[in-house]
This record gives sequence, C-alpha cells and structure tokens, in this order.
Amino acid sequence: MNHLKHLLVGFCLLIGSLVKADEGMWLPLLLQKMNEQHMKSLGMKISAKDIYNINTGSLKDAIVSFGGFCTGEVISSKGLVLTNHHCGFDVVQNHSTLEHNYIRDGFWAKNNGEEIPEKGLFVTFIVRIEDVTKQALSGVSVTMSESERQSAIDRNIAELRKNIKKESYQENFVRGFFEGNQYYLFVTETYRDVRLVGAPPAAIGNFGKDTDNWMWPRHTGDFSMFRIYAGKDNKPAEYAADNVPYVPKRSLSISLDGVKEGDFTLVFGFPGRTMEYLHSSAVDQTVRVNDPVKIAIRDKALAVIDDFMRKDETIKIQYASKYAGISNSWKKWQGEVLGLTQTNAVAKKKIYEAEFQKRVNASPAWAKQYGSLLGDLESAYAELEPLGRSRDYFNEIISRIELFTMAAQLNNALNAQGKNNYDATLARTKERLRDLYNEYNPEVDKKLFAVLMEMFYKDQPNEKMPAEFTQRAKESDFDFAKMAEQLFKETDLDDGEIILKALETDPAALLAKHKTDKANEVYLALVTGFSANTSGKLNEVQGRINKLQRTYMQAQMDVFKEKKFYPDANSTLRVTYGNVKGYNPRDAVRFDYYTYLDGLMDKYKPGDYEFDVPEKLRTLYQNKDYGPYGSNGKMPVCFIAMNHTTGGNSGSPALDAYGNLVGLNFDRVWEGTMSDINYDPSICRNIMVDIRYVLFIVDKYAGAGHLVKEMKLVHPKKK
Ligand code: ARG
Ligand code: GLU
Repeated sequence: MNHLKHLLVGFCLLIGSLVKADEGMWLPLLLQKMNEQHMKSLGMKISAKDIYNINTGSLKDAIVSFGGFCTGEVISSKGLVLTNHHCGFDVVQNHSTLEHNYIRDGFWAKNNGEEIPEKGLFVTFIVRIEDVTKQALSGVSVTMSESERQSAIDRNIAELRKNIKKESYQENFVRGFFEGNQYYLFVTETYRDVRLVGAPPAAIGNFGKDTDNWMWPRHTGDFSMFRIYAGKDNKPAEYAADNVPYVPKRSLSISLDGVKEGDFTLVFGFPGRTMEYLHSSAVDQTVRVNDPVKIAIRDKALAVIDDFMRKDETIKIQYASKYAGISNSWKKWQGEVLGLTQTNAVAKKKIYEAEFQKRVNASPAWAKQYGSLLGDLESAYAELEPLGRSRDYFNEIISRIELFTMAAQLNNALNAQGKNNYDATLARTKERLRDLYNEYNPEVDKKLFAVLMEMFYKDQPNEKMPAEFTQRAKESDFDFAKMAEQLFKETDLDDGEIILKALETDPAALLAKHKTDKANEVYLALVTGFSANTSGKLNEVQGRINKLQRTYMQAQMDVFKEKKFYPDANSTLRVTYGNVKGYNPRDAVRFDYYTYLDGLMDKYKPGDYEFDVPEKLRTLYQNKDYGPYGSNGKMPVCFIAMNHTTGGNSGSPALDAYGNLVGLNFDRVWEGTMSDINYDPSICRNIMVDIRYVLFIVDKYAGAGHLVKEMKLVHPKKK
C-alpha cells in the first residue's frame, strides 16, 4: 500500500507535464505545433521547418524507407544510401558464393560498374503528408458495426485517393492513426533500381552476433551502403543497366565532431509497431502470459537448432539466419518482461487509469460516454487471456515446424486449382519451397517436431487437442519422438528433392497425393482444431477490444488535455528526439554512453564465431591508425541516447543539434525493449554506431576512400 502511495505522489508531480521528456514518435508535419519548443529546450539549433517542409527542401527529403522494413538515408549528391548491415544482409547473402564470400570478407564496389543490382529491392521517399481524417471518417457514426464502419472508411479513402494532386510517377496511401481515430495521406516516390555498394565483413557488421544483440555495451559496426539509380530524367525507373545515379533533393552532411553526454540527437525513420496506450490488464497479460509462452517455446526450439549447428558445419550455414531471426525476438521479449517488471509498468498504468476514471466521473457527459470503458476493457481482456494463450502456442509451434510450412505451401496451390490464379500461385509455391528446402535439414525438423509437439500436447488442456492428433499421439504411446519418427517416414514433405522434382514434372499428381499425405493430415487437423476451439471466439473478442481501445484512445486525448499524444508506430515516417545519456541497468551498475575500439579488442576471441576480429582491424588498432576519424587517440564505436525507437528504425540516421549525421541507429538496450509498450526514461536507450567508425571502416579498413570523397564532412563544433 505504501508503495502505491509513493507512486501516487510521484504521479501527482508528473501530471503537470504528462509527456515524459524524450518519449514519443512524432509526425514530422506536426513538429512545429507540437514539439519545436521542447526540441529547442533540449538543445536543437535548427527549426521544425528545416526537418519537414514540403515547399522547399528539408531533411525529410534525405530519408527513405529501405525495402519497407528498415530506414536508410541519402549521404551524397550521387544517391549513396546508408543503412544497417542487418538490413542489407539478405542482399549480401544472395550474392555470396564460396569463391566470393561477401558475408565473411565484405564487399566494396570500386566504381559504379561494380555495384550489384538487387531485384525487388526499393527505397521510398515521402513527398508530403496530409491530415485526411475528416474525409476518411465522413458519414461514420458510433452506432455502426465494426464492419460497416470499415467499409464506409474504405469507400471514403478510395474516393479521396482519386482526386489527389500528384505527379504520374508518384504513389500514395492512406493510413489510420491513434487506433483509427485519425487518418493521414502519404504521397511517395519509390525507386526500384537500388544497388549494393558496400558492406563490411560480418565480423565487423555483426560483431558479437546473438550474444551482444540487444545489449549494451556494444561494438557492432552495423552498416552497409547502397546507391539509388534513376532514369535519365532522374525519375523512378525500373532496373536498366544504363540508369544513372539518382541526384537527391537533399543529402545529409556528416559531422566528424561526435557527441558528448547531454547533446541533442534526433532519429528520423520508419518505426514499425508500438502499443503505448493499452489497458493495464493487456500489459499484465503480456508480462504474465504471452511473452513467457513465446519465450518458453523458443527456448526449446533454439536449443534444438543450436545443438545441430554446433555439430555440423552445413547446418550451421543453413540455419544461421533462421536462428538469428528466432533468437532476435526471443531475446527482446525477455528484456521486455524484465523492463516492464522492473519499472512497475502495470502499477503505473493502474494509477493513470484511476486518474482517468476520476476525471471521467467528474463530468456527466464523459461519465455517460466513457464511464464503463475501463471496466469493459478489463473484462474483454480477461476473456482474451486463454484465447491469446492458445493463439501463441499454436502460432509459435506451427511456424517453428517446417514440415507444416511445406504442407501449407502445397495447400495454397491445391486451393487455387481450377481457379484463374492457379498458375501464379503454383509459381509462387515453387519459388517459396525452393527457398525453404535450400535451408532445410529433415533431422533438425524431426527433432523440433518431437520437442515442440510434446509441449503443445502437455501444456494445453485436453479439450484443445483435435481428436485426430490425440489419436496419433496415442498410437505412439504419447512418445513424441516415436510419433515424429513414424510421421517423417510416412511423408515425402521432408524430402526437398522429391517434392521439387514432382512440382516440375507433374504438379497435378503431386497435389492429388498431397491431399492424403500423413503430415498434411496432422497439419490440417491442428489447423481445423484451432479454428473450431479458438479462432472464431478470438476474432470476436479481439474485434470488441479493437473498438474499445479506439474509444479509449480518443477518451485519453479528451480527458488528458494537458498531455501531448503521439500516435503508435505504424511504419510511417516519424521523428524521435532526446539527449545522449548513460543509464543504470540495475542496482549499483552504471553504463557509460560511449564505447571505443579498445572495448571491442577486450571482447576479441581468436577464431570465435561471434567475437573474432579481422587481422586488418587489429593492425589498425595496434598502430592507432585512425586517420581523421579518431578522437583523442581513441576510436569511438557506438553510443546510446534517449530516442524512442523500435523495429523499423534500423538504419535510421541520428542527427545532431544542427541536423548533421552523427550516428546510425541499429538497436536498443535489453532492459529498455519494453519501450514498445511503456517507455521509461530511466532505462530506455537506443544504440547507434558512431558515424566516424563507419567512415573509418570504409576508408581505412576497406580502402574505399572514394566513397568518403562523395560525402560532405563538417565540423559544426569548430565553427
Ligand atoms: N536487435 C536488432 C534488431 O532488432 C538487430 C538484429 C540483427 N542482429 C542480430 N544479431 N540478430 O533488428
Ligand atoms: N534492430 C531493430 C530493427 O531492425 C531496431 C532496433 C529496435 O527494435 O529498436 O529495426
């Protein structure tokens, strides 16, 4: 109780300035109105108009969505783009062979001719953003059902998109914000000829791998470079050998002065997804149910894969990227649980809700409109809990067992049979299966099946088990290794050669056979069981929650008028800002805000999979040969700040008070990954590579100084 009282006092002090400094992913077009003053008070020397202005060029013209999943920025007048190593990694992997191992050795094009085109890769610029809430919600009323509401909005959006002023080579889309209470239009320009210019070896670009991932102190040079190509008229054009380097409206200047503690930084990019306005019971469920379920399943999956990877070099290569993907979220969720627990996120949300209810009750109009909202949310989330738990078991386990992924792929083709999209679907299935089998080992999958299906059976109530599945389990005496052994014998799905060949020679016969394939029968029994027991009800409850959360979002904005609200991330362009700052991860431990090459060398383990250091880098270190990039005889590597970032902000530029590039965002600290749900300034930090380390690697390590010559380097502090 005392604890609660302390929190209450803290809350009252807080209520005057409800936005915690540094929290927020802001819409660039609203900066002037909402943030400029605050940004200047934190040290920013430029104006909101320098960041976003649709009439004259502004910093936003140098920012791109990189392939739709990361961020990149233009850093030369010849269309050179900087992003993360892990964002460009697939491209590097696709062009690596045993003779030209760009993953291991890095890649640097010596001239434009050597740059490598990548089919399907694109970058998107944002031309302008407009609030279209009024048009989008015209005719929408509270009495409409959710589906009526959605159709009305879809119709409005289709209508308004017909009349947009834009050039023929531009595109546009409309997206919902604040849980669908507001809508914004984006006019965009997408360039589809993007070529790989360079990437450091993985030993630099992914130094520390999974052990260091989501961790501070960090020493990863997580960057790669691409170039945008345009038609001769500088407009977007499909790939053509004679396309020319794109001349951007704006490219970023690069500061060689570094940052010190307290300095202002701004991160500009495309954050993917956050959930900052949930009811406390949703946060509680994440901590108590959903994250732990997913973590426990991945614990087992990762242990199985790791075991095989250690024993077999081929499996190690085949599963490396899969393993990194599974482990990335697994580690993030653990940090999330830790952070939410450590900062009493649920208790803080409850205090916030109590204040909300108090204000609502004090106004008859609000009481009528919002009086029962919190109670309704609480009971809806209580209904969701067991359903969400089954969903997580189902999704996590089904997607880890690749036999089921193969089955699902063939079912797609099967379902398209006799329809006019059959050929296209079959082609896609083939391509997808070829990729899947390339990185597939049936022994690993069999073990995953045994371990995970046992978990699926034992951890869930019997009534959730489809009868066919229980029957099969019974036939194997509930020995899931035995069940796996038997099933893998009966099916061909684990044999890529057979399946891919049959797909080429006689797809119709293969699909006919697939109908009675034993593994497919098990898969379909699980899918059917899940829809019968869970998904219908789950969708109904989730639909209700979506509507309640939308109302709650609007209610919070009505009731806490003194608070500045930012919309949850939705992969649209945002600005986040804050100061460079260390943190205390736990009692008596203080983390500084900078790392240096000395720290990287402390981690060096010769020959190690994660912590080996290339010889050339060791030599440069021994000779302190840092060129103009070192600082006081040391080579800075990474730094942290209070910018509120999330997945998708990978590759985002970190700008200084003057708008110069000082760092490249690539991660967050483990204790603070809960910023997706509840940002807390005490432990939430984003991690950036120092731009001087990037240039040092390009110039001194890779000998690609010609690229640095393209860039504009400045010394703002020496002005
Ligand atoms: N944690 C970062 C992100 O979420 C980096 C991931 C890539 N690095 C890795 N070791 N898996 O994307
Ligand atoms: N590594 C993440 C990404 O790929 C960014 C780090 C984060 O989630 O904050 O987008």
